[in-house]
Amino acid sequence: MNILITGASGHLGTAVIAHLLELMPTENIVGLVRNPQKGEPLQAQGLETRLGDYDDTDSLARAMQGIDKVLLISGGETENALQQHCNVVDAAQKAGVSGIAYTGRSLKDPQNLANRLMIRHFQTEAYIQASGLKYVLFRNALYLDVIPGFVGKQVFERGIQLPAGEGKVAFALRSEMGKAIARVLAQTDCDNRTYTFTGNEACSFKDVAAALSRLSERQVAYTPLESAEYTIRMKSLGLPEGLIQKLCGFLEDIQNSQEDTVSSDLAEVLGYTPTALEAGLKQLYAL
Ligand SMILES: NC(=O)c1ccc[n+]([C@@H]2O[C@H](COP(=O)([O-])OP(=O)(O)OC[C@H]3O[C@@H](n4cnc5c(N)ncnc54)[C@H](OP(=O)(O)O)[C@@H]3O)[C@@H](O)[C@H]2O)c1
Repeated sequence: MNILITGASGHLGTAVIAHLLELMPTENIVGLVRNPQKGEPLQAQGLETRLGDYDDTDSLARAMQGIDKVLLISGGETENALQQHCNVVDAAQKAGVSGIAYTGRSLKDPQNLANRLMIRHFQTEAYIQASGLKYVLFRNALYLDVIPGFVGKQVFERGIQLPAGEGKVAFALRSEMGKAIARVLAQTDCDNRTYTFTGNEACSFKDVAAALSRLSERQVAYTPLESAEYTIRMKSLGLPEGLIQKLCGFLEDIQNSQEDTVSSDLAEVLGYTPTALEAGLKQLYAL
């Protein structure tokens, strides 16, 4: 069985491939990259890489030759992301692959998302389901790994100030979601199942602040902000308008409980309890 992993140069793709290598022969794993240089680390591990861009349907058709199963890792935050994903699904279907897996998000209510860019995940899932291909859907929690980016470099001096209210997130480490995705891909056929990969509990930024306080033995406070105040602060730091809007949407969705779904799927596939918030932060901050 040959598996094509798209987004193979990215963080999640790298984690999936690292674990697939423990479960399958190297010659059955193919990485899709759009930049030849980014394929070099994979080639150094003995992997075949193929060039392909989600915008370039000919490149996708070539990349699918001889492939049995595709993992479509969602692309960046571009406006045409849905079309890009549809291009990958169409190419897989035309090439006669037996099944496709997709990495989306574990958001609770797609109809009421403030961050409208997230809707493409659900639209991609619907497109895959309508394609007639066998599929597996991975709905991933917000990566625990993104917390340092949200709270900022001066978190230990200034604390956490975000417009996320008391909203909670079932954060999970990207590496553990990658491991679980690899296990499902290597050990099961695409059986039209949806996995919701989340941590075992949902935590607020108050919990993040408390965990960072304990780990650093410094007082880290969380102060919920209004979106308007956060926007002013981000503008003063020179962040582009589009990025600020995206961040506000993300944080509003957290406040509105979009990210607090807790599922046991990740623990069941891993065979152990996923790394909890404080242990994950300890790793990320090397504390
Ligand atoms: N659950 C979460 O918290 C969370 C957080 C952030 C993102 N995400 C989503 O999950 C995805 C994977 O996460 P990640 O951390 O692995 O992101 P990442 O490190 O940015 O990786 C994204 C991958 O997609 C590839 N890609 C982007 N546009 C492409 C295109 N047009 N054609 C071919 N490949 C393309 C990138 O290639 P290059 O290396 O050439 O850029 C890269 O390999 C993200 O893209 C995003 O949609 C989820």
